[in-house]
Amino acid sequence: MIQRRDFLRKGLIGAGGFLLTRHSPWAAAFDSTGSDSRIEVLPAEPLGTISPNIYGHFTENLSGVVYDGMWVGENSKVPNIKGIRKELVDEMRKIKPPVVRFPGGCFADSYDWKDGIGPADKRPRRTNFWAFGETAAAPASHKYDPNLFGTDEFVRFCKLIGAEAYLAANVRTLSAQDFDRWVEYCNSPAGSTTLADMRAAAGSPEPYNVRYWGVGNESWGCGGNFTPQQYAVEYRRYTTWVPDYKGDLAFIASGPDGDRWSWTHGFFEEILRKGKEQLRSIYGIALHHYAWNLSRGATQDWEKGKGDALKFDPVDWYELLREGDRMEGLINGHWQVMAEFDPEHSVKLVVDEWGPWYRPGSEATPGDQIEQMPTLRDAVFSGMTLDIFNRHPEKVTMAACAQLINCLNSLYLAHEDRFCVTPVGHIFSMYAAHQGGQGLRTIFSAPGVSYDRDGKAASFWGLRGSASLHDKELVLTVVNPAVNAPRETEVGIRGASVQSASATALTHSDIHAHNTFDQRTVVTPQTRSLDVKGRILNYTFPPASVTKLALRLT
Ligand code: AHR
Repeated sequence: MIQRRDFLRKGLIGAGGFLLTRHSPWAAAFDSTGSDSRIEVLPAEPLGTISPNIYGHFTENLSGVVYDGMWVGENSKVPNIKGIRKELVDEMRKIKPPVVRFPGGCFADSYDWKDGIGPADKRPRRTNFWAFGETAAAPASHKYDPNLFGTDEFVRFCKLIGAEAYLAANVRTLSAQDFDRWVEYCNSPAGSTTLADMRAAAGSPEPYNVRYWGVGNESWGCGGNFTPQQYAVEYRRYTTWVPDYKGDLAFIASGPDGDRWSWTHGFFEEILRKGKEQLRSIYGIALHHYAWNLSRGATQDWEKGKGDALKFDPVDWYELLREGDRMEGLINGHWQVMAEFDPEHSVKLVVDEWGPWYRPGSEATPGDQIEQMPTLRDAVFSGMTLDIFNRHPEKVTMAACAQLINCLNSLYLAHEDRFCVTPVGHIFSMYAAHQGGQGLRTIFSAPGVSYDRDGKAASFWGLRGSASLHDKELVLTVVNPAVNAPRETEVGIRGASVQSASATALTHSDIHAHNTFDQRTVVTPQTRSLDVKGRILNYTFPPASVTKLALRLT
């Protein structure tokens, strides 16, 4: 039996649920109108500011992500900005991307950043970490990294889209000195060091001021196969006295896979062996969670347990959402473990890989490794996940959807001169409005969904979401996971009235709907303004949908 951990080791309510009581001052406002569901937003119960960085992205040098997806080269017939795919840049600007993680993933712990700087024609070709999973027909650049897209190109990409760079350093095969030097290359002042001069020769005398640095990736597996204690020792060494020109470097420790509480426990225990002040070197600990097991409890095998991205039934739909919904328990669980060592919670969670992972076979570009076709199901999954992050703003400071383009839960698909925005991309565009808002506690009351899980009764919640406030503008995002039940809902804001409102909904009559290079607009959000009469807004959330309500409060 293969498990994801083995695979990688080898190298390859707060909101929701409860009913309003008669004691709630709100209860009187909900005189029955036939609605079966209610949502109550509580502006007097702020949860904290929603960090824009939880809307981050992940780009690994893996198959078609970089070469073909992001990088087409300056001489390409594909419109580009100094080699970077222009349509990708144009689309990304629309979603306000705050931060992008690069170069991996597992790739990061095999990458020598020095290979990717200097004149392009002098850069070496190296065997890509993922080379051995590529098909014979795969482009050479997917197997043997030409290093044409390195630090300068990545930072240029980030600048073009208005995002900050988040670089993942190599702990498995490079030294701590290499890490220091990478920081020096990126951040030393103009004219100060030989590396700053090399950066200037590449077009940027001014420092890149990269703030976020990952210290290894999945160090329990492909990133070195460490025990948490061994990794903590390495972490301390790699993060001690790193050149910090602006005094604001933020180090992100490689964290647990899913519910591996022992990793979080062991890491912090060992870190603190050198004293409590060691916590100051940790900005965040990375949590990874992929929803992959659609076997309905039949197996834990990493290959056999996976489902299909396109061929699925309603039970598979709910099973995927259940797997993704585990995210909330993972956040709470690791936070609890962290509290034991860091009661003030100076260290936050960085969920820098999340999304569904299906078996191969649905690639938009046949042969692209670890690429899958995102459908409406993945859009609903993504809305649900972003809502979970929004509901825990005090815990989750950053996140990155895996991965941006031509990969798992991709926002975009591209091949040569073809491009499309996936349903997941549209979710990011709808949810961008939450960035930097004040998260608000919100109560969702709706009948749950019941379904038959291979002869056993199973259920899933009926409506959930998240709310945030920017001055008088309230954003409420809501997921209706039921494949065939619309939810007539009364929406109220305690202590406030709604002046005007609009609804943007992403849904489709076919739960398998998706966008392709030939049919680019099958799944697109639709916006309409709503009639508002008084304090209660009546809205019907369509089946299998994600909706954003934008409300102007008086
Ligand atoms: O996103 C694909 C891979 O999944 C990453 O390289 C690794 O970090 C994770 O296991």
